[in-house]
Parts: sequence; C-alpha cells; structure tokens
Amino acid sequence: MDAAPAVEWILACRPGFEGEAAAEGRLALAAHGVPVTEPRIAPGLVRFAFDGPIDRGRLPDPHRLIFARTAWPAFARLSTLDPRDRLTPLLAALDAVAATVGDVWVETADGEEGTALAGFARSFEAATLAALKRARRRDPSSQVLLRVLAASGADLALALDDRGALPPGRGGIPRLRLPRDAPSRSALKIEEAWLTLLSASERVRALAPGMTAVDLGAAPGGWSWQLARRGLAVTAIDNGPLAASALATGRIRHVRADGFRFRPPRPVDWLVCDMVEQPARVARLVADWLARGDAHAALVNLKLPMKKRWEETVGCLVALGDAIDALLPPSVAAAAARPDAPVAGTRFALRARQLYHDREEITVLALPLGRRTRSGPAPGGRPGPTSTAISRRRAPRRSSP
Ligand SMILES: C[S@@+](CC[C@H](N)C(=O)[O-])C[C@H]1O[C@@H](n2cnc3c(N)ncnc32)[C@H](O)[C@@H]1O
Repeated sequence: MDAAPAVEWILACRPGFEGEAAAEGRLALAAHGVPVTEPRIAPGLVRFAFDGPIDRGRLPDPHRLIFARTAWPAFARLSTLDPRDRLTPLLAALDAVAATVGDVWVETADGEEGTALAGFARSFEAATLAALKRARRRDPSSQVLLRVLAASGADLALALDDRGALPPGRGGIPRLRLPRDAPSRSALKIEEAWLTLLSASERVRALAPGMTAVDLGAAPGGWSWQLARRGLAVTAIDNGPLAASALATGRIRHVRADGFRFRPPRPVDWLVCDMVEQPARVARLVADWLARGDAHAALVNLKLPMKKRWEETVGCLVALGDAIDALLPPSVAAAAARPDAPVAGTRFALRARQLYHDREEITVLALPLGRRTRSGPAPGGRPGPTSTAISRRRAPRRSSP
C-alpha cells in the first residue's frame, strides 16, 4: 500500500476522555521522536497537526493505545468545503497518493455530533464509491481502504489504511450484537475485549474448550456466560444472583463469596474480574493471583471514576506490571520511563483498552509470554496451571458470534 505521509494524526476516543487520549497520544508521539504539537480537541476526537508531512512509519501503532479506539494518519485535510461539491477536492487530494482504492469508509466521531452526521456519512460514502467507480479508480481487489473522517459536512480528513489491518469497525467501534439470552450487556464487553486485545491466533489458543476460569464479581453473569459458550468451565463468584441463562449453560458453578477472599483449590487458566472496586485494589488482587500462579492469564476491568484517570491508569498498570514482571503498554512504559520491549525475566504482556462497551473504565489483559514447562513452578509461587495450558490447547469449535 502507498504509505502517504501524514499531515495530521487524529485519535478517536470516548467523548469525555479527550484529555486522557491527548495525554497518551502526546507521550506516544514523543516516544517515537515525532515533534509534538498541542492537539486540537473536539468531542470524541484529538487532532495532532504536524508542521510538515511525517513518515507513516514514525507514527505509534494505534492498536496499542489505551484511550484511542482508532487513529487516522491523515494525508490531507479538506476544510471549508463547498457542500455542493465535496467530491472534486477529495479526488484531487487522492490523486497525489493512490491510483485506485479497494473500499471507502466515511467515519464520524462518537457522540452527539457524530450521530448527527451519520446520515451524511452514509450517503457521502455511497457517493464517493460511485465517483471512484465512474473514474475507474475503484479496484475491489485492492487492499487500500480510503478512510474519510467527517468532522463536519465541510471538514474532512483523508487517510489510507490496509484493509487487512482494519480497526474493528468504523470509528474503531465494533458492531457486536447482544444475543437474546445474554445475561447482561457486559457480555459485549468481554467479547470486544477478546476481539481487540487478542489476535485471531491468540484467541484460538487462549480460549479453548476444557479450560477453566474464575469470574470475580460475576453477577448477573454476562462474562461467565461468554466463557461458558466457548466451552470453559467457570467458577462464578458473587453474592448476587446469576441469570437463569448463565446457569443453563451447565458450565458455570456459582459460589457466593467475597471476590477478595476466594482462591481456587487448583490453578485456573483465566482469572476475569469485573468487580466495582478501587482500581488499585483490583490491580493488587490480580497481581497476587498471577504472581502466585492461581491463574495463568487475566482479563480485568478497572473502574476510573476519579478525576486523574490517566495518572491512575499509569499507576495501576505500572504496579501490576512490576508485581508480575510484565511488559507494559507502550504509552504507559513511556510515561513511567520503563523499557518498551521484553527484558530477561519478563513473564507477561499487559495490554489495555478503553473499549467501546466500557464507560468510565478500562479493560486490562495480562497474557503470559512464552511457554512454561509442565513440571516447573511459576516463578515466585505455586505451580502454574497444568502444562502450557494456553499455548497447547486444541483450537475451539467456535460457538459464539
Ligand atoms: C459490573 S457487575 C459485573 C457484571 C458481570 N461482569 C456481567 O457480565 O454480568 C459487578 C459485580 O461485582 C460484584 N461485586 C462487587 N464487589 C464484590 C466482591 N467483593 N466480591 C464479589 N462480588 C463483588 C457485584 O455484586 C456485582 O454483581
């Protein structure tokens, strides 16, 4: 794909979290040696304009940011467009960087302003595709995706992406449907976490029938239900009741207990945790499970109701990372001046994301790096789960959407 230089790097985030996305984007750009400018903020958008074109290869990987859902490395910005003809300037700007494109997405920010533009985005996407076809500039076999961010009807930013490395949906928002028998909307949160925090091959290896999981703060059971649908045997910890559809899976054992006290008799493959509690306390709990080998991997939601959400995120992830010898997400590593590649002894990768289905919270994955031996104890604690549980399981029969 033609790697058109970027004149602007635009991040999409949850409305209200522009400050966190800006702080993170600034750090990520600085860590990549890109001169940092003060971003312009609009609801759901953080826009870093560059003084001159920047080589795309110098921009941070948006998939590894926490508060950005997607990024547009814009090669052109078309502002004050005449609403009677937006296509001529768009095609002229495209001329300079690509002969043909495979597809077009017209995207908007999340929130009220983006919703108000949804109708325009749909019709402009169809019009752009038709114009490209007429000009013989659409080649369905091409991997090049033209992404048009419509900040308003008169302000467009254009970026090119590889169709093979698409964000999960327009605006970085995956279109997931809640099955009718899902116990809660939280079921979508864990599904989105698997989609965005694990690669396709990691999903196959890490979520296989026959594995085991403990779900702390499980009621009414959306996360447990999703794990059970993938064939895992789940111990669901909550003093509250589980939905009938969760219990009907036959793979969930409900234990009424305090999630901060419960420990499994044998190590499990997964610890998942969605308890509404102080994030630092939850991070310490998860660190303790992983460090002692009570769980092999963890997926945890950290609630962020406080004002200094970026600082809290960095503090929690650094403390968790230090406790389990983990590689931090790059922006957190930059904030804490820590290594951004595994060093000797690194046992886990920490990945984190404010998902579309997250509100004032982020979801954090701790995934073991490399393999452990069947007999070898987990460093610093009890033996790990039987054998190299996550890396050696058979591929699951996919039962979920
Ligand atoms: C956000 S809800 C979990 C939703 C769940 N993930 C789902 O998918 O349906 C939080 C749950 O954590 C539980 N909880 C909070 N503190 C807890 C504790 N100390 N021990 C066990 N459960 C706790 C609450 O009872 C509540 O049911």
